Amino acid sequence: MLIIKDIYNLQTYLNAYRDKGYSIGYVPTMGALHEGHRSLIEKSCNDNQKTIISIFINEKQFNDAQDFEAYPRNKGDDYNFCDKHNVDIIFEPSAEEIYPKEYKSIQNSHFKNILCDQYRPGHFDGVVNVLNRLFNIIESNKVYFGEKDFQQLKIVENLIKENFPNLKLVPVSTVRSTEGIALSSRNSKLSKKQMTDFISFQKEVIQFITHLDKKADLIEANKKAEEFIKSYEKFDYFEFRNATNLSLEGSLVEARLFYAIYKSSVRLIDNIRL
Ligand code: PAF
Repeated sequence: MLIIKDIYNLQTYLNAYRDKGYSIGYVPTMGALHEGHRSLIEKSCNDNQKTIISIFINEKQFNDAQDFEAYPRNKGDDYNFCDKHNVDIIFEPSAEEIYPKEYKSIQNSHFKNILCDQYRPGHFDGVVNVLNRLFNIIESNKVYFGEKDFQQLKIVENLIKENFPNLKLVPVSTVRSTEGIALSSRNSKLSKKQMTDFISFQKEVIQFITHLDKKADLIEANKKAEEFIKSYEKFDYFEFRNATNLSLEGSLVEARLFYAIYKSSVRLIDNIRL
């Protein structure tokens, strides 16, 4: 396994792969790797001859400086993790490498002012900037994204459609703990008690969803969702949206429940298919 920090070296290796006719799968990450990342890596290794993963904590997508500082980092473990799961290249660039002085910013224009975009202004601009740059540098055949960050996935779908016609986006289902919690790097920030509370919350959410009439329209269902979440101390959103276009139109059959809640200062997001 190679650990490469600069674009020049990276492209030398990637070009050598391409010369040999190898297909390249790419998994973008911000490190603190877990089983959710493993499923993306495994899928890429199954589909391609070579798998590259990037580890870059992209400050531009943190709308809160404290959140950036507190984001989990565990380099040594990440290297071992990638090695164990047959990654061929880790690309771990510096901020200067990704954003040189002449870099021209782009902006996200999709799925604006709803869900995470409403509560984390500028977050998705940061995401599309880093991905636009990384996709241009790496030029992989396929790229792998988890469904846990569903709004991100939909935004990336549009970025790829508009700017990267030769890149295939592969969505991968969310990996959950046996208690039903979506795996996330941020989970490591929860105390035991917070994790226990989060598990109970998740179980109540599943109960709540199970008892809804799937033919109900989203306006009606969201009234019930509002009622359900009322007593919960801190959340950004908790609502059903159409899984295709993230609108509030249609019925529960074609929807997902989206939520962003807080456990102390840790913000946790998930989306659940009905
Ligand atoms: O989902 C993430 O970890 C990040 O948003 C991504 C896609 C690696 C961009 O920094």
